Amino acid sequence: MVDTQDPVVTMKQEVGKAAARRVQSDSVVGLGTGSTTAFAIQYIGERLKTGELKNIVGVPTSFQAEVLARKYGIPLTTLDVIEKLDIAIDGADEVDPQKNLIKGGGAAHTREKIVDSLADLFIVVVDQSKLVTKLGSTFALPVEVLPMAITPVMHQLEKLGGKPELRMGVKKDGPVVTDQGNLVIDVKFDSIDDPASLEKIINNIPGVLENGLFVGLADIILVGSIQDGKPVIEE
Ligand code: 5RP
Repeated sequence: MVDTQDPVVTMKQEVGKAAARRVQSDSVVGLGTGSTTAFAIQYIGERLKTGELKNIVGVPTSFQAEVLARKYGIPLTTLDVIEKLDIAIDGADEVDPQKNLIKGGGAAHTREKIVDSLADLFIVVVDQSKLVTKLGSTFALPVEVLPMAITPVMHQLEKLGGKPELRMGVKKDGPVVTDQGNLVIDVKFDSIDDPASLEKIINNIPGVLENGLFVGLADIILVGSIQDGKPVIEE
């Protein structure tokens, strides 16, 4: 159960709500993945229920987002039906000063990049700990890979100077499998000096579906922190 007394949970809740408040009626909304975005999805649902918001359709970025959207009564659509989104709300694992991101902590970055990149306005919801001066300084870069290509892709990632590791499930008894049935390699780089070129180089390795570098996509970063025991949200 979610501990609503925990200040960190309260702060995530407030960041999620702040993003959900930016959603307007008659819009197509990208629904991101993760514990912070989950609160945004919940609050969009609440606004729909009270009638404050009308005529919203969501595009989920993962099975998790889809389940939450159904739970909170948000009608869903697909990219076969709509051409673009008005707004997308999503979390991140690292954010640099240029608003470039590392995503994929929840193994959903492939669908997230597709959906978030189609939005007129992409809002990222994070807590202060995710802000870094250089991407790769704290978080390993997630790369979604076809299962049969795991070994050759790992070799290529090593040649690029990374330390790749196959992502295992919490019980360590098997690998994490993505919503698309693929595997995730987490690659630790000492630092990522040129995210735009690394994004392209990794995506060019045969067998790679997508990596978690989101370069030039984010419009607004909403950052939550706890000050004097209270949640504070800054843009
Ligand atoms: C999932 C993601 C998440 O958005 C990211 O991991 C942040 O999640 P949280 O809000 O739980 O910290 O990229 O693939």
